[in-house]
Amino acid sequence: MRSKTQLERLGLFDAKVPRYTSYPTAPHFSDAVDAARVTRWIGAIPEGSRISLYVHVPFCRRLCWFCACRTQGTQSDAPVAAYLTVLQQELALLARHLPKGVTLSRLHWGGGTPTLLSPAMITDLAGAIAALAPFAPGYEFSVEVDPNEIDTPRLAALRNAGMNRASIGVQDFDPLIQTSIGREQSFEVTRDVTMALREAGVHSLNADILFGLPHQTGPRITDSVQKLLSLAPDRVALYGYAHVPWMARRQSMLPSDALPTPPERLDLFETARQLFVWDGYDEIGIDHFALPSDGLSIAQRNRGLCRNFQGYTDDPAEVLIGIGASSISRFPQGYAQNAAGTSAHISAIRDGRFSTARGHAFAGDDRLRARIIEALMCDFSVSTPALSEAFGISPATLRAMFDAVNARFESCLEVTDRGLTIPPAARPLTRMVARAFDAFDDQKTRHSSAI
Ligand SMILES: C[S@@+](CC[C@H](N)C(=O)[O-])C[C@H]1O[C@@H](n2cnc3c(N)ncnc32)[C@H](O)[C@@H]1O
Ligand code: SF4
Repeated sequence: MRSKTQLERLGLFDAKVPRYTSYPTAPHFSDAVDAARVTRWIGAIPEGSRISLYVHVPFCRRLCWFCACRTQGTQSDAPVAAYLTVLQQELALLARHLPKGVTLSRLHWGGGTPTLLSPAMITDLAGAIAALAPFAPGYEFSVEVDPNEIDTPRLAALRNAGMNRASIGVQDFDPLIQTSIGREQSFEVTRDVTMALREAGVHSLNADILFGLPHQTGPRITDSVQKLLSLAPDRVALYGYAHVPWMARRQSMLPSDALPTPPERLDLFETARQLFVWDGYDEIGIDHFALPSDGLSIAQRNRGLCRNFQGYTDDPAEVLIGIGASSISRFPQGYAQNAAGTSAHISAIRDGRFSTARGHAFAGDDRLRARIIEALMCDFSVSTPALSEAFGISPATLRAMFDAVNARFESCLEVTDRGLTIPPAARPLTRMVARAFDAFDDQKTRHSSAI
């Protein structure tokens, strides 16, 4: 790693930079993309394509204070059942426009907490999806699992529906940290759910943990990572806790005076990173770790790693359709986001139209910039010959662009006629280097911390 002083001088600790799960990022979407345009984009999917589907379930039984996800708490099944009926209507609407022969490369249920659905609801939703499109060979069906909100009947229903990957929310195992973030979940509960998933035949397990939480210290994150390693997940997402109480008001319940400082966050990340690497995990992009046998590691080795709204993926599908409130779809033509509020989404679908509220249609050099940013976030390097061939841009123009960015980073990047590379010592700056290629970037939309 470069010295903290240099990283600080280059803005690591004071800049707010996006995580670039899309380019342009969602704050730059506008109402230029509407339901009519999305209907045309869906109709233009080639017959027989492999696409991916994301289904959003915006409900939780508990609302963890740290969580910035778009979700609402409910103890009753009535709003969930009403929402599920609408999801089925939305899938039927999609089926009317989807060209023939489409199959599913990836299916992901996220939230919120999709595991709060009852076994019957899980079976109904999976049936509506199967009626839309069958799974493609080698498909992956993943579900976000809250270990406190799953039991044997729900697990069996998910498995019967074809779930073959689970993503488990851990965050941190330390009791003091758990209390301070409003998320209590014993190690034993997480361990038992991990074992139950494996016994049910779900052999691909992801886990989410966070660094930068209140009261987190080197010894505490070491202990949590070691506990997690004892469960041997195939894949780990090590996210920096984003403290954005102006967007997620429940975060104001956290003791903000116990949050680590930006340099301490960097040390926490580094401590966890080393533990994963020592244990044989490959580093994937800026914040993931995977066993060498996992699909992400294989994709990284084959230069096939991609980025989408769920983070890193080995999914090669060009089209990702988001179902449910606030979900975002990606098409070769651009992005489209459904109405964020559950009631606005429900009322559009009940009227027989997609709820598309915002989006972005690619224009100008958007695709070039998107390709550069994705390559930096996935591979820490951009290839001049590949870009030149794909976009018809002269190597000299690209060289000038890369040299200008390198100058802004005190020449800590490597620029040659082959392209631009972020060397390991400068990788904490990856999101900032990506931002240097973001033509939409401005201070107003910088909402999450750089590390
Ligand atoms: C949409 S949540 C669903 C997880 C599932 N409901 C559970 O509780 O296990 C997915 C992940 O987002 C991450 N996340 C939520 N709020 C975050 C925040 N403020 N900063 C960083 N990551 C966050 C957490 O790691 C969480 O596991
Ligand atoms: S972490 Fe999971 S259970 Fe907690 S509020 Fe967020 S989505 Fe809901």
